[in-house]
Amino acid sequence: MKNYKRNLITCALPYANGPVHIGHLAGVYVPADIYVRYLRMRSRETLFVCGSDEHGVPVTMAARKEGCSPQDIVDKYHGIIKNAFKDFGINFDIYSRTSSETHRRNASQFFRKLYDEGKFIEKESEQFYDPEANVFLADRYIVGTCPKCGAEGAYGDQCEKCGSTLSPEELINPHSKVSGAEPVKKKTKHWYLPLEQYESWLREWILDGHKEWKTNVYGQVKSWLDGGLQPRAVSRDLDWGVPVPVEGAEGKVLYVWFDAPIGYISNTIELLPDSWEKWWKSEDTRMIHFIGKDNIVFHCIVFPSMLKAYGDGFILPDNVPSNEFLNLEGDKISTSRNWAVWLHEYLQDFPGQQDTLRYVLTANAPETKDNDFTWKDFQARNNSELVAVYGNFVNRAIVLTHKYFGGKVPENLSGAQIDADTLAQIPAFRKAIEENIENFKFREALKEAMNLARLGNKYLTDTEPWAVAKTDMDRTASILFTALQICGNLAIAFAPFLPFSTEKLNRMLNVEPGSWESFGCGTILESGHQLGKAELLFSKVEDEAIQKQLDRLEKIKAERQAAEAAAAPKVAPAKEECTFEDFEKMDIRTATVLEAERVPKTDKLLKLTIDTGLDKRVIVSGIAEYYTPEQMVGKQICILANLKPRTIRGIESKGMILMAKQLDGRMRCVRAEECLCNGAVVG
Ligand code: MF3
Ligand code: ZN
Repeated sequence: MKNYKRNLITCALPYANGPVHIGHLAGVYVPADIYVRYLRMRSRETLFVCGSDEHGVPVTMAARKEGCSPQDIVDKYHGIIKNAFKDFGINFDIYSRTSSETHRRNASQFFRKLYDEGKFIEKESEQFYDPEANVFLADRYIVGTCPKCGAEGAYGDQCEKCGSTLSPEELINPHSKVSGAEPVKKKTKHWYLPLEQYESWLREWILDGHKEWKTNVYGQVKSWLDGGLQPRAVSRDLDWGVPVPVEGAEGKVLYVWFDAPIGYISNTIELLPDSWEKWWKSEDTRMIHFIGKDNIVFHCIVFPSMLKAYGDGFILPDNVPSNEFLNLEGDKISTSRNWAVWLHEYLQDFPGQQDTLRYVLTANAPETKDNDFTWKDFQARNNSELVAVYGNFVNRAIVLTHKYFGGKVPENLSGAQIDADTLAQIPAFRKAIEENIENFKFREALKEAMNLARLGNKYLTDTEPWAVAKTDMDRTASILFTALQICGNLAIAFAPFLPFSTEKLNRMLNVEPGSWESFGCGTILESGHQLGKAELLFSKVEDEAIQKQLDRLEKIKAERQAAEAAAAPKVAPAKEECTFEDFEKMDIRTATVLEAERVPKTDKLLKLTIDTGLDKRVIVSGIAEYYTPEQMVGKQICILANLKPRTIRGIESKGMILMAKQLDGRMRCVRAEECLCNGAVVG
């Protein structure tokens, strides 16, 4: 690897449309924080940049839902998010916001330079428009019935019920979330970044030049590139965002995915107005973007193409470590469905236990595949790893030192082979942790740190200083001396992962934070050094606390199911009783469609010529919404043959096709299980 002088670490800017939850933490912010803490322990110059993403439809949607302005929303959540990060020990050098003046100016200028240099193409296209509210509609603003599962309230981009990706055209009964009107198409002009022009450059830079990127990232980039890139719109018709800085662009703003990544630059400028360029325009800077998997295309394809188009010495990321998703108790985490563990709520229920969550989220991080967070696993990892292994070892070593040696690190008076053998293993742990962190394998790295604690625990169990103390104080001194060296090393090994307990351990050991360089390198705690008071490094998580969380989730699930059941369409009520004679009057029989065509100037009607076995006749049926003429030709159906003829749109219709109306309003033909002869009587 190149010898870089400094590291610029960015974390995806979270949307300020809700608080942050464990999925955010596990996917992006905890890994980035571990990495940054590690780099700093190694004295590598590092800048850690983040901020709130305050534009785009996610924010305007939240404002609509909460009945306030977008500004209110971002003001509220920016504060909550910023505090949550701080509370979990994630200390960015700057956590600003894309509504800042600096960002507005910077994003605007960025666009303008690309515009002036002809880097965009201008295109007119048809977009969905709300004719009553007079606004263009983002896909999310169009709702209707899901064509796949029949759920009401599916969005124009996705059905949250069945997870299908949709386009607004596919929705049944589409209507605008703003006014309820049926959307119409309207022409509008936008600016596009012609990504296809960057394709071969991207191939060379990433596919040839960055084979070391994580396979999920590399694979996604490859499939985008293999699929062929298209021009991507960088503006939107929306009244919330950075205005497009061009004449005649009233009512248009920069697309949120255009402005947000520029936020990394803006926030650096805000922090370091005079020296930001050394972080962004020097080949000596190594830039790393920490993101979630839904951000890959933007950080590996779109933003780099923007930077490339801009030129002027901007550097590109050296790596883009991206995680998969974390689920919660087997279900997708969702802000809108309130299926999440919110960080600020966690802290109310588990005050002072930030490190437990950091530990569990790292030990279970969705590094290579989606993973599940369960409260039982949370409890088990806390109680049987943090408490029973790491905490127990440290506690035994320190308490016994207080008991036998007045809290002073004893002399190594009677060393034995097992002491030397145990301490000799430490450098290998250090090496494994380093290698794993540097390759963004934080799970593995953490496992190694815990294995070092296991080594300590086993050492005490094997040497039994509490028993030896009855007969041999010199040997006891050496055992505790050795155990305390392991404690000193643990305070370094865990420091990138568990900042709160590390601080506590340092206090107990009465030492300044250890340097990485001293990890595995000889004596850390000199004989005679006075330790601090023993405290419990971790506390047990009781069953009741877990039950409370499970009950909370159970309640949310039950409420959601009740709401869904209430909103679900109902089966039509039963009809009045009829006699067999009534039924006998109806001449229902099988028939085959010979020809089918749309009735001109109508949306709903098809003219069908059918063979009824009795005759060939015409039926006009209102099924064009559900079947194309091509789908009907050749189909065997059932008809009511003796319905009094009616003239519809000037065509005489003799009979009716039997259709079943589904709960979602869709009509389907009633058909026999197998092909029958035409004219078979149904009854
Ligand atoms: N707000 C986006 C999300 O939550 C991430 C934006 S990352 C940035 O998915 F690069 F655009 F800032
Ligand atoms: Zn669906």
